[in-house]
Amino acid sequence: MNMLLLDALKCKNKSRPPIWLMRQAGRYMPEYRALRAKHTFLEMCHHPELIAEVTQLPLRTFGLDAAILFSDILVIPEALGVGLRFDEGIGPIIERPLRDKQGVEQLPKTSMKDHLSYVTEGIKLLLPELKVPLIGFSGAPFTLASYMIEGGGSRDLRKTKQWMVRDPESFHQLLSKLADCVIEYLNMQIDAGVQALQLFDSWAHFLSHDHFDEFSAAYMQKILKGIKPNVPVIVFCRGSSIFAEQLAAIKPAAVSLDWQCDLAKVRQKLGPQICLQGNLDPDILYAPESVIRKEANALLRKMKGDPGFIFNLGHGMNPDMSPDAVKALVDAVKTNDSK
Ligand code: CP3
Repeated sequence: MNMLLLDALKCKNKSRPPIWLMRQAGRYMPEYRALRAKHTFLEMCHHPELIAEVTQLPLRTFGLDAAILFSDILVIPEALGVGLRFDEGIGPIIERPLRDKQGVEQLPKTSMKDHLSYVTEGIKLLLPELKVPLIGFSGAPFTLASYMIEGGGSRDLRKTKQWMVRDPESFHQLLSKLADCVIEYLNMQIDAGVQALQLFDSWAHFLSHDHFDEFSAAYMQKILKGIKPNVPVIVFCRGSSIFAEQLAAIKPAAVSLDWQCDLAKVRQKLGPQICLQGNLDPDILYAPESVIRKEANALLRKMKGDPGFIFNLGHGMNPDMSPDAVKALVDAVKTNDSK
């Protein structure tokens, strides 16, 4: 088993940094598109065999140091019965968005076990095939709530934030309910054997400093306290460099940083006890290979000798990126001696 990721998560990695990429299994891969031509995205998420197959696609092609479970953060809202579909060219749509306190109270008391066992079956099929650690994941409550209220993607989260400031009590009720679902779901993944977890609070960058603590970090902390011990958790949100100290305060194993910050300065600010993941600008993958190598080497030099560093992008891969760019990036990280 390749231990680079798990060692880095403990801040005890003495070798080169591990590399994996957010959205590493996706439409930029021809192998993914070939499977996707035969199935809808949700069909792929719902079938254990396809979960296992798609998770492994980027590992076979690029030799990454970790697998991330192929799934989506929106399987929890789907399990709560709000209706989920993905429309081509639009993205996720929640068919029955939440409107008010009554909607929150009417959410079913369903157990995640009754709805999401296809995920744990996928994990069980996968694990014997893997030579690298498997990262499980979930959306965090604020981002899940946002999708359930907006009904899909949104430019400004207006409905969510209107609800939040007009009726914080029922908004907290919703976040609390979602945190309980996430805890149950992540414990299922832990029981099935994932070796690390990532929490995605993708939309928390819409919050002010104090609201971030109240509506995002507090619930991620509740989740960290509620899940079974000894599985390291990476926390991610857009704008994480602004919220880095607040994220570190909830004591995850790692914080995943966006590309707007200088990772060496974040290290100074947060101290040596926490693993840092990131933070190459994803758009560098559109550059010629020589530039990709140069940028990767610059980041590696900055973090040279850091025992708690995971090489990743500041956010996910895009569908129009090239597999050759990923090959060049992975090769740069694997062959770099940080001279
Ligand atoms: O990183 C990985 O490879 C693991 C799988 C993964 C997916 N989604 C696969 C996916 C993970 C970890 C996610 C998380 C996710 N999903 C987030 C949080 C991360 C982030 O980017 O901030 C969010 C906000 C979602 C919701 C979601 N799902 C969106 C906005 C989209 C894109 C819609 C579009 O059509 O562009 C998806 C779809 C999705 N999730 C795809 C994949 C591979 C593409 C679906 C397809 O094949 O059509």
